[in-house]
Amino acid sequence: MESYAAALEMPENDSVKWRRWGTWGVCAVWVCGAGCSPSTETTQAADAPRYAAVDTARLLAAGEDEQAGQWLSHGRTYEEQRYSPLDEITTQNVERLGLAWFADYDTNLQQQATPLYIDGVLYVSTAWSKVYAFDARTGKTLWQYDPKVPGEWAVNVCCGLSNRGVAAYDGKLYLGTLDGRLVAIDARTGQEVWSVLTVDRSERYSITGAPRVVQGRVLIGNSGAEFGVRGYLSAYDAQTGELDWRFYTVPGNPADGFENDTMRRAAATWTGEWWTLGGGGTVWDSFVYDPVTDLLFIGVGNGSPWNARYRSPEGGDNLFLSSIVAVKPDTGEYVWHYQTTPWETWDYTATQPIVIADLEIDGSRRRVLMQAPKNGFFYVLDAATGKVLRADAYTEVNWADGVDLDTGRPRIRAQARYQAGKPFNALPGPQGAHAWHPMAYSPRTGLVYIPVQRAWFPFVEDEDFQPQPVGYNLGVHLGAPLTYYRDHPDEPRDFVGYLKAWDPVAGREVWRGEENQGPTGGALATAGGLVFQGGGSSQEFRAYDARTGEKLWSMHAQTGVLAGPISYELDGRQYVAVSVGGNQAGGYYAPNYSRLLVFTLDGKAQLPPTKTFVPRPLDPPPATASPEVVAAGRAKYSQYCAACHGENGQTRGAMFPDLTRTPLLHSQERFDQVVLKGALSARGMASFAQVLEPADTQAIRAFIVARANDMKQASAPGASGAPQQAHR
Ligand code: HEC
Repeated sequence: MESYAAALEMPENDSVKWRRWGTWGVCAVWVCGAGCSPSTETTQAADAPRYAAVDTARLLAAGEDEQAGQWLSHGRTYEEQRYSPLDEITTQNVERLGLAWFADYDTNLQQQATPLYIDGVLYVSTAWSKVYAFDARTGKTLWQYDPKVPGEWAVNVCCGLSNRGVAAYDGKLYLGTLDGRLVAIDARTGQEVWSVLTVDRSERYSITGAPRVVQGRVLIGNSGAEFGVRGYLSAYDAQTGELDWRFYTVPGNPADGFENDTMRRAAATWTGEWWTLGGGGTVWDSFVYDPVTDLLFIGVGNGSPWNARYRSPEGGDNLFLSSIVAVKPDTGEYVWHYQTTPWETWDYTATQPIVIADLEIDGSRRRVLMQAPKNGFFYVLDAATGKVLRADAYTEVNWADGVDLDTGRPRIRAQARYQAGKPFNALPGPQGAHAWHPMAYSPRTGLVYIPVQRAWFPFVEDEDFQPQPVGYNLGVHLGAPLTYYRDHPDEPRDFVGYLKAWDPVAGREVWRGEENQGPTGGALATAGGLVFQGGGSSQEFRAYDARTGEKLWSMHAQTGVLAGPISYELDGRQYVAVSVGGNQAGGYYAPNYSRLLVFTLDGKAQLPPTKTFVPRPLDPPPATASPEVVAAGRAKYSQYCAACHGENGQTRGAMFPDLTRTPLLHSQERFDQVVLKGALSARGMASFAQVLEPADTQAIRAFIVARANDMKQASAPGASGAPQQAHR
């Protein structure tokens, strides 16, 4: 791990207002670049250092002027608008924006975390649930924390080994780990203070989301609805780590007795024996506290398994899947809910970022919450009652013809409910019209900036569905795109992302940014009239005019930019910081360019040049296996490997190795060392010996070899360009 500091030109005068809260803590590591002068706070070195000096009062005041330079919690304030009131960087001068410093991470996996900035220190989590603390002046690493997640646990993680952030409170940072722990870390030293297991390790839970702290309790959810778990949110005492309350999002086995009356009523909306399959409803990203209504809003995920016909065969709404549930923050007691997608069957989570605001709606000022969930409708709900005020499609959708505002229910098209022999090419697919990538709201423009995706997926029922102890439990074929689009060549199948400025009151698009392949990055709005956003796989970090969408500035980050940016003020200057990494050109084995990038006006630091890198050649052995073996291999691959290595052997986004190019294709023995003997398990590639026989891995290898030969043929000079895969 290296970090680089740039010689910053600090202002000599105090013409820019310096805002400060509490005592200053990092003077001991103050390193002054050329041309800088000591600023006010260095004279307070005698004060005892205080790190993460955040209490409930300060969190409640995060929107006040004194905190304007801070980023104290995941979405900056409890409202999670991701709006910074700083205005030194404007539409007029943003072209002068440059790198102040950057710091390298030790993992090239995808970076999804929003950093925190508190009194001179930046805290950021990275893939594998690690945490860094940086001196915000110099970029010097103050400490690094590694919870040492066992590599084998990766097989229980649905969508990459990422982490989206930490919470700060009373001198500590809180982190959820991939293997289900909630850890309190001393913000000064990086030492673990306490650690609790928040999940049953006999079930396949994981944590990637950022905790929130409300009234002295640390809130944390989890993931795992692809693996048959039951979702919940837990509240722990911030000091002791003791469990205070837990809110389950779906009912358990009625025979065990319900935890509360809410679960009894929810159970009336389920049929069959859903509890044997988990039910799902995981709370993996968004849970937001509103100090005005004193309610906590929980974004609830998809069903487990995905296919509702297996989960709840006689229908039913399946509460609280795909819902926003309001609970009391001190007890976890149910108050209201709004369900976006009844009898959910498309992985349409309502876990997407929730933003709270005061909006002028139908002639009166209302406290609302807003969400752009995966299903493609933008919801504005009354925060106190959950009444739906707006529900407009914010992108193209083909599963429903709008939402009935009186009942709040979507008008679902019959053919969207895929079943045996009747597949459905869905828009949005399970990737969602919007995933975890943070959206921002600017009270100045009244617009919401949504990282939108146009992502198709063909839902093909898995008619032989049986819950498996390893791999996804979906009830649909994850590998279906390969065969479905081969057989339906005219069906649309793109997956692109772009930023959309959305008027939440009028329910219409105002502008959109440029498209990139795959997901696009999270957004930050500022009082300088700007929106900062990463262009996903385009590897661009950019600033738009918040009103017009004109691109005013950009830089090439050398790697994918997906995480939510932040802005803060230090020594009277405004900074913008963003964690980058993932989707690097050349894939998983390309050099690591994952970093924290920090920008300011006239910043002079330069990224080192990219390293020369020769991607692995597409050099498979000849395809000699019979079509039957290849088909068997494709089925096993789809069930056990596609989740990480991509539906066709090639990962989108380079989160995992491209198996069409692995040299291990040349040796079944070496292939099996990895797949059956766990040779790479410490690095996230578990052994599949529990579910695969040597004959299975031979078939899987044959399938990948066949795929690689098809691709090689298609890319050979003189090839028509159409994939040659007619018999598969
Ligand atoms: C949970 C995610 C995940 C799943 C599921 C998964 N893998 Fe992997 N796989 C990985 C990771 C991570 C690596 C890279 C490990 C490393 O850095 O060395 C990897 C590496 C490999 C490699 C070595 C590639 C190389 O060139 O070094 C092979 C071969 C492989 N996987 C095959 C499979 C097969 C076959 C399946 C299905 C039976 C599968 N994997 C399922 C995550 C996964």
